[in-house]
Amino acid sequence: MPKKNDAGAEAVESERASESQIAVHWREEDYFFPSAKFIGQANVSDPSILERFSESKFPECFKEYADLLSWDEYWHTTLDTSNAPFWKWFVGGRLNASYNCVDRHLATDRNKAAIIFVPEPEDADTEVITYQELYVRVNEFAALLRDFCGLQTGDVATFHMPMVPDLPVAMLACARLGVVHSQVFGGFSGAACGGRIADSKSKILVTIDGYYRNGELQDHKVKADEAIARALEEGVVVDKVLVFRRNPGEYASKSPMVPGRDFFVDEILPDYKRKLVDPVSMPAEAPLFIMYSSGTTGKPKGCQHSTGGYLAYVAGTSKYYQDIHPEDTYWCAADIGWITGHSYIVYGPLALGTTTVMYEGVPTYPDAGRCWRIAERLGVTTFHTAPTTIRTLRKVGPDEPAKYNYHFKHMTTVGEPIEPEVWRWYYDVVGKGEAVIVDTWWQTENGGFLGTGIPALNPMKPGSCGPAALGIFPEILDEDGEVVTAGSGIAGNICIRNPWPGIFQTIWGDPDRFVKTYYEKYNHKKGSTDWRDWPYFANDGAMQAEDGYYRILGRVDDVINVSGHRLGTKELESAALMVDEVAEAAAVPVVDDVRGHAVEMYISVKPGVEPSQEVADKVSRMIETEIGKVARPKNVWIVTDMPKTRSGKIMRRVIASISNFTDVGDITTLANPDVVEDVLHHVQSEKLARGELPRELSPAELQTIKNFGSSE
Ligand code: PRX
Repeated sequence: MPKKNDAGAEAVESERASESQIAVHWREEDYFFPSAKFIGQANVSDPSILERFSESKFPECFKEYADLLSWDEYWHTTLDTSNAPFWKWFVGGRLNASYNCVDRHLATDRNKAAIIFVPEPEDADTEVITYQELYVRVNEFAALLRDFCGLQTGDVATFHMPMVPDLPVAMLACARLGVVHSQVFGGFSGAACGGRIADSKSKILVTIDGYYRNGELQDHKVKADEAIARALEEGVVVDKVLVFRRNPGEYASKSPMVPGRDFFVDEILPDYKRKLVDPVSMPAEAPLFIMYSSGTTGKPKGCQHSTGGYLAYVAGTSKYYQDIHPEDTYWCAADIGWITGHSYIVYGPLALGTTTVMYEGVPTYPDAGRCWRIAERLGVTTFHTAPTTIRTLRKVGPDEPAKYNYHFKHMTTVGEPIEPEVWRWYYDVVGKGEAVIVDTWWQTENGGFLGTGIPALNPMKPGSCGPAALGIFPEILDEDGEVVTAGSGIAGNICIRNPWPGIFQTIWGDPDRFVKTYYEKYNHKKGSTDWRDWPYFANDGAMQAEDGYYRILGRVDDVINVSGHRLGTKELESAALMVDEVAEAAAVPVVDDVRGHAVEMYISVKPGVEPSQEVADKVSRMIETEIGKVARPKNVWIVTDMPKTRSGKIMRRVIASISNFTDVGDITTLANPDVVEDVLHHVQSEKLARGELPRELSPAELQTIKNFGSSE
């Protein structure tokens, strides 16, 4: 917001506000059309569906999704808006998510593969878990959680698990009991996990001794000790740590097991063999899980998702957009530690009774052909991944897909904007020109897809996430809340005018922040119970082409999207500030050909401290400890001063421009315009010396850099 008492800062602020609506010029891409073969088998190919989900049918249209589930009790109110914007879906309904994903498939598909687990070591056997086997494992683990850990309906359990089948088993076991799970991405540090344990106040941590990544068995249990220590610092005591073992009978960690606190699952599970646990019939609005995500402020937000609305939304979108059929072999190569994995590896596909593939390791291990060997071997029909993976595979193995005899009918891209050239490689080379592609835009907060097309009905357009999903009514608003018209070539903030069943219910323990972050900006009338008064502010910049298709430009808040991982500027900066020598820190994104963006840190040191490589390394290490390896900065620049407004705020936008070799814009209103030249010279000459050469940025990349830091 403008600082009224500071004319200089105000001028800079207003200049920035106008930049959020910059005109974007790019070539309109040509359409690609689905094949007759695809259309012939598609779940949705009749355009009458558009009428069924038209605005006049809202919210009842979502009954179509809810009817994909088995309800213990049918709901009486589809959408309750009485406490807006805390929406309640399918009120009065009762169901159990574990029953819907497991038990109800037994009658017809008991011995069909539910999960196919592919370990990273290529000589290890693939593990096939049938629906019957999943049923047995989920029941036994649920009994253990209930009777050994004392977990009850409504409690929270934190998981810090990698991509192994024990993770979905544990999730479904919680769901069976009505226990809320909170899975922390396995690649995150112990400290990051500890912060999330403390925020959710969970007493139980489920982890594993180790897992394979890039050919090595990682020591993972050590992170549990760090997590528990951090949670304790924040006043939360973890009672029990359940430790799976990656290789039964062996222990992959150097960290000692703490007596009375740490337990090997394989040692206690025999006591629960053959135990059955009745699925607890949960109200539709009961929370199913929490998933933490980064935003503008330092503390990650626990996004709370519901049981009925969420499950209905992921089942419906898996059926209509992923075009999942029960007989498909579906492989989403995301990590279950992210929302994509929750919705589109576990809950959506299993609710539909299909076969979902889980791969433990990195897509390029041991070489760039690995994914295509998995696809060939398992007969994968449907493939789902992120632009980062596509860029990597294109870079390191552009000719690999052609060597393998697999045939996808459908492919998804998610998590970041995809460049049209990369999209075309995905289409031509990975999809062999046979598969449709859906580019799906959505967020941790959303539960499921928001921007996408119906694959048999909407032609594809590279780089664009298509029109909105059914029953989703977006609008692009400028800073004053005026609608930016389609085809104007102007970007703005993408908002969704209406609630939908997959939308998160609140931020765990912080309802005020929920309203403030997502609804306050464009709320028409405080206290209103009419959903039309509460557009959802997604924090993404976007523009709409004349044909109604949306193109997402990236975050307008201070979030850096590295390989589809959302990293908060403030989290990075507070980690850097934990290094004793550091006086000030600023994190900015730098475009990266593979990861989309990488993090660069700018720091200044305290008086009397000599700038040195050692200090820079300490900053990198601290970020890794506090957040995880994904957040490791590409460069740490030590500068004597940072460009600042007259009110003393660091101008991240200017620093981001320096890191990306783009125009720094008007800096005359800064308190210290002279330092810009010094920092620019220091950083850019060093970059050139390291071979980090400037390149032309795409309109989306340019937009991200120009807007960076404008959300404060
Ligand atoms: O900026 C958008 C980008 O990823 C952000 C959401 O990140 P996260 O909550 O981690 O969820 C990722 C997976 C759903 C968004 O605010 N994003 C996501 N999908 C796309 C995208 N940007 C462009 N195109 C997409 N398809």
